[in-house]
Amino acid sequence: MDNPSENRGTLPGEKPGDFDVIIIGSGAAGLTAALELATDLRVLVLAKGSLTGGSTAWAQGGIAAVLDAGDTFENHVRDTMVAGAGLNDRETVEFVIERAPASIDRLCELGVPFNRDANSLHLTREGGHSHRRIVHVDDATGWAVQSALLKAAEANPNITMLGGRTAIDFITDRHRERYSAAGRVWGVYALNEETGRVERHVARATILAAGGAGRVYQFSTAPRGATGDGIAMAWRAGARVSNMEMMQFHPTCLYNLEVKNFLITEAVRGEGGHLINPRTGKRFMTFYDPERMELAPRDVVARAIDSEIKRFGLDYVHLDISHQPADFVRGHFPTIYEKLLGLGIDMTKGPIPVVPAQHYTCGGVVVDLFARTDLPGLWAAGECTESGLHGANRLASNSLLECFVFGEAAASDILTMWDELDDPPAILPWDESRVTDSDEEVVIKQNWTEIRRFMWNYVGIVRTTKRLERAKHRIELLSQEVDDYYGAFRVTTDLIELRNLLQSAELIVKSALARHESRGLHYTMDYPEMDAAAKDTVLVP
Ligand code: FAD
Ligand code: SIN
Repeated sequence: MDNPSENRGTLPGEKPGDFDVIIIGSGAAGLTAALELATDLRVLVLAKGSLTGGSTAWAQGGIAAVLDAGDTFENHVRDTMVAGAGLNDRETVEFVIERAPASIDRLCELGVPFNRDANSLHLTREGGHSHRRIVHVDDATGWAVQSALLKAAEANPNITMLGGRTAIDFITDRHRERYSAAGRVWGVYALNEETGRVERHVARATILAAGGAGRVYQFSTAPRGATGDGIAMAWRAGARVSNMEMMQFHPTCLYNLEVKNFLITEAVRGEGGHLINPRTGKRFMTFYDPERMELAPRDVVARAIDSEIKRFGLDYVHLDISHQPADFVRGHFPTIYEKLLGLGIDMTKGPIPVVPAQHYTCGGVVVDLFARTDLPGLWAAGECTESGLHGANRLASNSLLECFVFGEAAASDILTMWDELDDPPAILPWDESRVTDSDEEVVIKQNWTEIRRFMWNYVGIVRTTKRLERAKHRIELLSQEVDDYYGAFRVTTDLIELRNLLQSAELIVKSALARHESRGLHYTMDYPEMDAAAKDTVLVP
C-alpha cells in the first residue's frame, strides 16, 4: 500500500487530494466504514444537517445476533428468509448473519453499554424472530450506538467529519476538465449549508451511506432528512436500483395529533404487548395470524392493523402491555414510558393508540458482497442499498446489523485494492452561471406535501394498479415542474431534497407497477397471489 499521508493537505475538503476516501453519511454504515479505513487512510465524512441526523440515532429495539447457546445461524437465516418472503439472496443472508457476533463484539469494544443479564448480554425478542436474539440498550439502542461511533471517529486523527453539507450529485468522469463519458465516481458536489456555496470533494474512493427514503410518505418514523438522496444520486449517475416497491411499514407508530413520528418499538409486543381493537375490546391478530399473533412479521401485522382501521372506521388501534408489572414495563421501555407520560399516556396503566407508518426502505442501490455498486469508484452500505439481505420484507433489527457488516465490507475492499485505484483527475467546479436565487420557496413546500400525500394514499400498505397509475401521472406532472425549477434557481437543501424525493417516488412506483404479484411488503389487490419464483425488480438507468 502507498503511504497515503504523504500528500496530506491543509484544510478539510478544500483541495483535491486532501482525502483518500469520501463517505456520504455519518450513521451506522458511514461511521463503521470510516473507523475501519482510518487505520491507513484519511477519510472525510459528510453529513446533511447535524452528524446525528440520520435514522441510526432513532433506532429503538436493537441489533439481531445469534448469541444464545440454544439459537443457531440457521435459525436466524430461516427467520430472515421467511420474513423476506423468499426474495432474499441466501448467500448475502448467511454473509451478514455469520458476521453478527463479531459486529456486536466490536461495538462492545467501542463502549456501547448493552443491557446485560449476569455475565451475558440481555436478549429481547421481536416479531418474526423464533428466538430471543436482539441485543439492546434499553429502548434507545440507536442513540447509544451513534454516540459510541461518533466518539471513536472524533478521537481518530485520520477522520474529518463535516456536518451541514448536503451532497447534490456524484462527481464522475463527465465532470473532469478533460471530459470523458466513462462513469467512474471521483467524489461529490455538496452544498455548504452555511455559506450557500457548492463545494467539490474529490477522492480516489467514495462510499455512499446516506440512508433511506422514508420521508417520501406522509407518515413515517424516519427523521426529516430521509429523502432518498443517496438512492437518487446513484441512479442519476448510472447505478442500478432494485426492489424499491418493498417499503416497510412499521405496525406501531404512536397516534398523536402533535407528535407525528414516534415509534413504539416492536419489543413492546416481544415482551407481551397485545394489539386490541378499541371498538370490540378484542385481540384481533387471532383472525389474521392465529399462530404467531402479535409476533408475526411486520408486513402481516401492519396489514392486519390497516384492515381493522378500515373495516371499523377507526383512527387507531390499541397496543396494551399494562397487564405486565409496572416495574417491568418501566425497566424495559424507559424512553417510551417517559415520552408517553409527557403526553398524558401511562403505558403501565392503559393502552397506547397506534397506527402503521412507513419505517424502512428495503430496496436501494444494488451492491455485491464487497459493497461495490455498478459504478467504479463508488461503494455503498446501509439503508440506501439493496444487498439481498432483506428481500421482500426486513426482519426486525437486521438493519443496523447490515450497516455494520457492509460498512466494514466496503472499507476492507477499498483497503485491499487501494494501490490499484487511480488518483483523481482535475475536476470542473460547480456551474452556477445560469441560475438565480429562488423567489418562490412556497413551490418547494407545496410539492413536498403533495408528493408525500399521494404516496401515502396511492402507494401505501395495500395497492392497486389504478392507484399506482394515478401516482405515476402526478409524478410525471411534478417532474417537469421540479426540473424547470432546479434548472433555474440556485440550490438549497430543500430543493435538493425535493428533487430526490420525487426521483425516489418515481422509482418506487415504477417498481410497484412492474411486480405482478403480491409478495412481502408489496400487496396489490390486482395480483393478490404470490408467484412460484421470487424475482428482484431491477431498474436499469
Ligand atoms: P442513517 O443512519 O439514516 O444515516 C444517513 C446519513 O446520511 C446521515 O448522516 C445523513 O445526514 C446523511 N445524508 C443523507 N442525505 C445526505 C446528503 N444529501 N448529503 C450528505 N449527507 C446525507 N434498525 C434496527 O436494526 N434496529 C432497530 O431497533 C431500529 N429501530 C429503528 C427505529 C426508528 C425510529 C427508525 C426510523 C429506524 C429504525 N431502524 C432500526 C432502522 C435503522 O435505524 C436504519 O436502517 C439504519 O440506522 C440506517 O443507517 P444508515 O447508516 O444506513 O443511515
Ligand atoms: C423497533 O424497535 O420496533 C424497530 C426495530 C427495527 O426497525 O428493526
